[in-house]
Amino acid sequence: MSASIHADARARPVRRSFDTDGPGQTARVGGRLAAWLAPGDTVLVSGDLGAGKTCFIQGICAGLDIAEPVTSPTFTLVNEYDGRLGRVPVAHFDLYRLDDPESVLDLGFDEYLDACVCLVEWGDKFPEIMPSDAVKVTIEIGAGTRRTLEIAGGGKLVADLEAAVR
Ligand SMILES: Nc1ncnc2c1ncn2[C@@H]1O[C@H](COP(=O)(O)OP(=O)(O)O)[C@@H](O)[C@H]1O
Ligand SMILES: [Mg+2]
Repeated sequence: MSASIHADARARPVRRSFDTDGPGQTARVGGRLAAWLAPGDTVLVSGDLGAGKTCFIQGICAGLDIAEPVTSPTFTLVNEYDGRLGRVPVAHFDLYRLDDPESVLDLGFDEYLDACVCLVEWGDKFPEIMPSDAVKVTIEIGAGTRRTLEIAGGGKLVADLEAAVR
């Protein structure tokens, strides 16, 4: 499997919806995405409160072999998992409480983008400072435990993720 989401996204960008039923399935799609991620890659996750952004990112982190419990950095704004805690360094952001792009940059955002796999909750908030080749995941809340994940990335990536909800 290709480890480069950049080359894949450039080759044939697509957007596809995945229906999940329950947090386990949402996390599993994230876990499958993890295989594609290397430092320098960014995943922007958006959706209302309780949609499942943290759940999806917990799945990614499990897929990256992060043994620590992963919780939303609602107050800390960024949680860092260095390379010793998993396969690669990870930075997990929650932009909910931030009002302008400058306060995101003040966290050292650009350095994290280069050095880590960056996972961003409320990732649709400041598009002007986000990498154009990021994978975009939008989660919509359905009835009960149903969620619809819309994933925009490369064709090969999206085809691979489909296996998680088959
Ligand atoms: N299909 C599903 N996918 C993800 N979470 C779900 C799903 N169905 C129910 N849930 C529940 O929705 C909540 C999602 O919470 P969380 O991931 O913290 O959301 P967010 O980070 O978007 O605010 C959890 O309580 C989870 O158990
Ligand atoms: Mg959250």
